[in-house]
Amino acid sequence: MKDTISPPPLLRMTGISKSFPGVRALETVDFEVGQAEIHAFLGENGAGKSTLLKILSGAQAPDAGAIEFDGKQVAFSSPHDAQAAGIVTIYQEFTLAPDMTVAGNVFIGREPGSKLFVSRSNMEEQTSELSRRIGLERSPRALVRDLSVAEQQMVEIARALSMKSRLIVMDEPTSALSRAEVEKLFDIIRSLKREGIATIFVTHRLEEVFEIADRYTVLRDGRFVGSGYVRETSLDKIIRLMVGRELGLLAAREASFATAEPALAAARITRRRKSSDASAIELHDVSFTVHKGEVLGVAGLVGAGRTETARAIFGADTFDSGSVFIDGREARIRSPRDAIRLGIGLVPEDRKQQALFLALAIRTNISIAAQDRISAFRHFISGKKEEALVEEYRKLLNIRMASPDQLVGNLSGGNQQKVVLARWLALRPKVLIVDEPTRGIDVGAKVEVHNLLFEMAKAGIAVIVISSELPEILALADRIVTMREGRVTGEIMRAGADQEKLMTLMTVGLERAA
Ligand SMILES: Nc1ncnc2c1ncn2[C@@H]1O[C@H](COP(=O)(O)OP(=O)(O)OP(=O)(O)O)[C@@H](O)[C@H]1O
Ligand SMILES: [Mg+2]
Repeated sequence: MKDTISPPPLLRMTGISKSFPGVRALETVDFEVGQAEIHAFLGENGAGKSTLLKILSGAQAPDAGAIEFDGKQVAFSSPHDAQAAGIVTIYQEFTLAPDMTVAGNVFIGREPGSKLFVSRSNMEEQTSELSRRIGLERSPRALVRDLSVAEQQMVEIARALSMKSRLIVMDEPTSALSRAEVEKLFDIIRSLKREGIATIFVTHRLEEVFEIADRYTVLRDGRFVGSGYVRETSLDKIIRLMVGRELGLLAAREASFATAEPALAAARITRRRKSSDASAIELHDVSFTVHKGEVLGVAGLVGAGRTETARAIFGADTFDSGSVFIDGREARIRSPRDAIRLGIGLVPEDRKQQALFLALAIRTNISIAAQDRISAFRHFISGKKEEALVEEYRKLLNIRMASPDQLVGNLSGGNQQKVVLARWLALRPKVLIVDEPTRGIDVGAKVEVHNLLFEMAKAGIAVIVISSELPEILALADRIVTMREGRVTGEIMRAGADQEKLMTLMTVGLERAA
């Protein structure tokens, strides 16, 4: 399966092994990347991708194995070592300092006083230039905490670009980006290639492999299972390597479980920008209804206000005017606690920051909302039932863990996502809002997540799906609402929708779309 690159490779990792308590994350893995090559690094959640990349970047030490970079044997004992050798890594979990500016983050570790001193005006100038290159429309002085997930990721990319590097390593760089942003990123990666810089990137969106990568490597269960030239393989072959079996591709479902009975209605939700919060996205008269058993898709580009709308409904953010109706009655939702009591669940987009208790066990993370003060759901918990609940969702979502008592913080990125999903699915709310439900989730588990959402709709739950992946929206939704710049711009039944129509509604809006 393995083919060696004929000129000496830029990177050659051989026999890399790494174990954690109860988990053999990597077992004698070989991995090669050619000069100026764009390399897709693939595998299911928990396969060991991030672990290998952490070893490559000096963040973790391997138990065994060797690394050769640019013809030389290397051993990195810190990310700083790897950077000095010309390898820059952008992690799956953001490592930005939220209370610093964009420029401060791009030049972190190279501020006044450090050896690589750059003056503030110079820093800001360079940051502006980098931001322009990648299309980040933010002032270098903006605080990172005011940025969206997509924008924060772009700051990470700017930071990597600002360091002289032969190899840029990106762990799921596209998962938080919109289609337009992905295209921008790919343009950047291609231009890096022309400058002789190689890129390794991890993705669960396999179509991206064929769009941009020269070669690929697949891990399964911590082992190398194959690598080769992308032009000599196919999507099916890659999926088979990843999961070790055939897998049905995502198909639009046949049945709809939508009823005519409204479950939740948002009526003219409006939120104006506060002067203290210049970067907030405004909402203008956002109205829509979702019915029992219906899956409502919400499509829009980054900045359209989809997440903000979800957070407003859920009581996580305040709004200035407008109402939320549940079962036809106006609901007073002042906090997520109110929303949960009324039967609304929200699986947030930024799960790591908003949803997980990283220092608590998986079991607690899954059952915590059910334990939490909601007497109606109390029967879900305590002792054996908790055990059973955790086991049910572990199986259903194929969560890869050593035991339910393992800390969530030690799970792979995709498996952390599954834990958050499990928590809310276990609550069986009346209305479930899922924001980018399959972001970072591997191709096999994605099918499972979709099936679960259908199951919930079938059980009469109203499901609102926010997704930047139009194929996902088209596969899941009965009806789709599009948003742009804080406004609803259109509404279309799935049967009459395709990617092009959605794109038009998302970018132009109803007025001119007809
Ligand atoms: N610090 C740690 N302590 C314990 N186990 C860990 C630790 N880091 C990783 N693991 C385990 O090692 C395995 C590989 O994890 P890794 O994060 O490398 O997977 P991945 O391929 O990046 O998955 P994903 O696609 O979900 O990001 C997983 O079973 C994970 O739980
Ligand atoms: Mg990972």
